[in-house]
Amino acid sequence: MKPATPKITRDQQLEKMRRDWDARARENARHYVNTERTDWTDDDFFASGEQQVAEDILTDMQNICQGREPREMRVLEIGCGAGRITRALAKLFGEVHAVDISGEMVAAARRALAGFPNAHVYQNNGCDLAVIPARDFDFAYSAIVFQHIPSREIIENYCREVHRLLRPGALFKFWVQGDPRTESAPDDTWLGVPFTDADAVAMGKRCGFDPRYRHGAGNQYFILWYFKE
Ligand SMILES: C[S@@+](CC[C@H](N)C(=O)[O-])C[C@H]1O[C@@H](n2cnc3c(N)ncnc32)[C@H](O)[C@@H]1O
Repeated sequence: MKPATPKITRDQQLEKMRRDWDARARENARHYVNTERTDWTDDDFFASGEQQVAEDILTDMQNICQGREPREMRVLEIGCGAGRITRALAKLFGEVHAVDISGEMVAAARRALAGFPNAHVYQNNGCDLAVIPARDFDFAYSAIVFQHIPSREIIENYCREVHRLLRPGALFKFWVQGDPRTESAPDDTWLGVPFTDADAVAMGKRCGFDPRYRHGAGNQYFILWYFKE
């Protein structure tokens, strides 16, 4: 018989996420952010963030910028970790605002972004964007974060929050877990809840987005393009 799923409230779930990610950050922040290596040098770690931006953002500027100058855009990032991608975003865009649930990760990201006055990093509660100034954002991005969140409710709440902050027409591009074989327990802060293509479309519509493109359904890295209606 399968063991019973542990009961856990949303507050307990968020507290566990924060505790686990703080512990990972204290042990080896850069490794848990990008598990390809255990001993990242500064140069290689930030180069991996540049690479990520080259692959995911520079190839997609039409959808992301929609004719705007990147230097005039205000961008939001959810789950910035140690600032790997945030730093590359700050080189490209005018203003970057990034959140993370872990105070330890936020401290590492602030160190990484010390020379970037256009980048702002906040510790949040793990489910909303109340800490972000309520201004219009031109683009929102999140990579390798929702793959670790065990709750659909929390991920959907983030989508509603991003919708609140984006200007009409703007894009939220983000990654979720798409491998249906992954089983996520409510107290598991490493393996996130999986989404099918139908789940992704339905969530986008419920949150007021046009879930126009999806790539990688069925795989660990399932990328979604939600345009604010
Ligand atoms: C694998 S790391 C990726 C960091 C960054 N996106 C990158 O690729 O360099 C996942 C990050 O998501 C953060 N995180 C996990 N759950 C979160 C939540 N509910 N809200 C905000 N951040 C969260 C963790 O603290 C961690 O810094």
